[in-house]
Amino acid sequence: MAVDVYLSEEEIANRIQQLADQINKDYAGKELTVVGVLNGAFMFTADLIRKLNIPVELDFIAASSYGDDTSSSGQVKIEWDLKKEIKGKHILLVEDIVDTGLTIKSLKALLGSREPASVKLASLLFKPARNVHPVDIDYLAFEIEDKFVIGYGLDYTGKYRELPYIGIYSE
Ligand code: IMP
Repeated sequence: MAVDVYLSEEEIANRIQQLADQINKDYAGKELTVVGVLNGAFMFTADLIRKLNIPVELDFIAASSYGDDTSSSGQVKIEWDLKKEIKGKHILLVEDIVDTGLTIKSLKALLGSREPASVKLASLLFKPARNVHPVDIDYLAFEIEDKFVIGYGLDYTGKYRELPYIGIYSE
C-alpha cells in the first residue's frame, strides 16, 4: 500500500486556526458545547478546541455507517451517546468527513430533537462528489475530490488514524 500526502500538517493547522477565529467571533459572549464524532474526529476536535477562546464543554458521540469497507452501508447506529444533557445549549458537532452525509444528517437530527439552543456543524473534509444527503456545513476546513483519505483521525480498517497529515490511500 502507498500513502500520498494530500493535506500537510501545516495546511491543516493553518486552516483550523482560520475556522477557530470564525467560531470565536460567532460565539463571542456565549458558551459552546463541542461534540466530537468518534473515532474519526478526535484529532480535529482536539486541535480545534485548543484554538478556541470562548468557554467550552466537550462531549463525544459515536455512530457507525461504515463496516471495514470503503463504501457506506446506508445505516447509522449510535454506538456511544453523549454523557450530558444538551437542552438549551449551543452545540457544535465536529465531524471528520461528510461523505454521503448520512451520518451527520442522522446525528444532527438526533441532537436537534433534544432541544438545544442551536446546532451547528464543523467538518474537516467534504466530498461533494459522493454527497446524497445535503447538510449545511457551517465551518468546513477542506472540500476534497472523490478519493479515499486516511490519517489525521481517519482510518482504513481501523488503521492510519495516527498520521499527522491527510493522505490518499491506494493499495
Ligand atoms: P457518510 O455517512 O457517508 O457521510 O460517512 C461519514 C463517515 O464515513 C465518516 O465519519 C468517516 O468515518 C467515513 N468515511 C467517509 N469517507 C472516508 C474516507 O475517505 N476516509 C476515511 N473514512 C471515510
